[in-house]
Amino acid sequence: MSATMYPNYSPGLEGVIGGITTISDIISETSTLVYRGYNVHDLASHGSFEETAYLLLFGHLPDRKELESFMATLAAEREVPAQVYTALQQLPPSTHPMDIARLGFAAYAPFDPDYNEPATNHDANLRKAVRIVAKASTIVGNGHRIRTGKAPLAPKPEHTIAQNFLYLVNGVEPDAETAHVMDSSLTLYAEHGFNASTFACRVCVATLSDLYSGICAGIGTLRGPLHGGANEEAMHMLQKIGTPDKADAWIHNALANKDKIMGFGHREYKKQDPRAIYMTKVAKALGEKTGDTKWGQIADILENVMATEKNIHPNVDFPAAYAYYLLGIPIDLYTPIFVVARTSGWTAHMVEQLDNNRLIRPKCIYEGPTSETWVPVDER
Ligand code: CMC
Repeated sequence: MSATMYPNYSPGLEGVIGGITTISDIISETSTLVYRGYNVHDLASHGSFEETAYLLLFGHLPDRKELESFMATLAAEREVPAQVYTALQQLPPSTHPMDIARLGFAAYAPFDPDYNEPATNHDANLRKAVRIVAKASTIVGNGHRIRTGKAPLAPKPEHTIAQNFLYLVNGVEPDAETAHVMDSSLTLYAEHGFNASTFACRVCVATLSDLYSGICAGIGTLRGPLHGGANEEAMHMLQKIGTPDKADAWIHNALANKDKIMGFGHREYKKQDPRAIYMTKVAKALGEKTGDTKWGQIADILENVMATEKNIHPNVDFPAAYAYYLLGIPIDLYTPIFVVARTSGWTAHMVEQLDNNRLIRPKCIYEGPTSETWVPVDER
């Protein structure tokens, strides 16, 4: 009823323009994603996640000197105070790493030397943004160590963010190929317009709250299975299917039951998600290299049936799921990897929001009762 009575109402805000940005653009018709004008495929194949993070935060690709200085700052800012680890150690071992990440940032916030700067201080916001990007892989990586009963490791200054994450999670030097796959996936996950978690970050700081509260809102929003949590759900689904010979029957049965197939579909891409195209190549290559091609084979069957029956295509979370699995990463770290990457997009958006701020406060349609008469509590 509401949709016809209120023509401006769009459930889920579909198609609603929520703001103006210069950070990224999704061109649905051509399945293209650009970060500040650069095609994400170019950034993922030729660049590094650090170059992408710099581009998102500072608006241009760094030259050699700017990149070296940025890398040095990230290295210097990578560690978190011992008090943050003490806070994480209080959590039960069953705590999901997304909750660890949220607490990690909440606990670090008051230690940021710029924490009490006014919300609209652009330079302080950028310094906070760089600290957040620098610390994300340490919070997630050492958070994983703590929940598995291991001591946190000191990050190595010579590591990239991708290497730091892998080093802390596995406790050994990552090999170059694994680090490259991780690095390119971080670039693909870095930024995506007004997606739910980024919008949550912008809504949060638009009240003149701080970037760390925004990051906590972003992490809480990302963890849901309709958003970032889909990469973990997609891997559980692939494991449940188990072998390629079971895939066709499984997917037909799931569709007959009207189940949502995790890792498929997207609000903005009605054809293909460009990130999924890139990530599928990476995941398939990993399968060939490791000799474990069954996930790619199951994926092909699901993709064909979904395209034929529903005209719905995989999003980035689908190939990322089995790529991470082939890298030996624990499944419940897949969405936290998304956090490590998306801190760059989230912070870029929060800085942009605060540079030209207006409170975000939409209207709603009231459909509850009207004209109720007050009845004293003992007479109800
Ligand atoms: N499996 C089966 N049917 C689907 C799927 C799916 N994955 N996605 C959409 N549909 C159908 C849906 O049932 C509906 O059909 P009908 O009109 O007959 O009821 C129609 O397509 C529209 O779906 P919707 O859920 O209203 O579309 P939306 O734009 O609100 O949702 C979405 C987009 C991503 C939440 C949805 O496609 C979905 O739930 N996908 C699975 C979860 C997932 O993979 N999320 C990751 C998104 S990409 C990574 C990220 O940025 O977070």
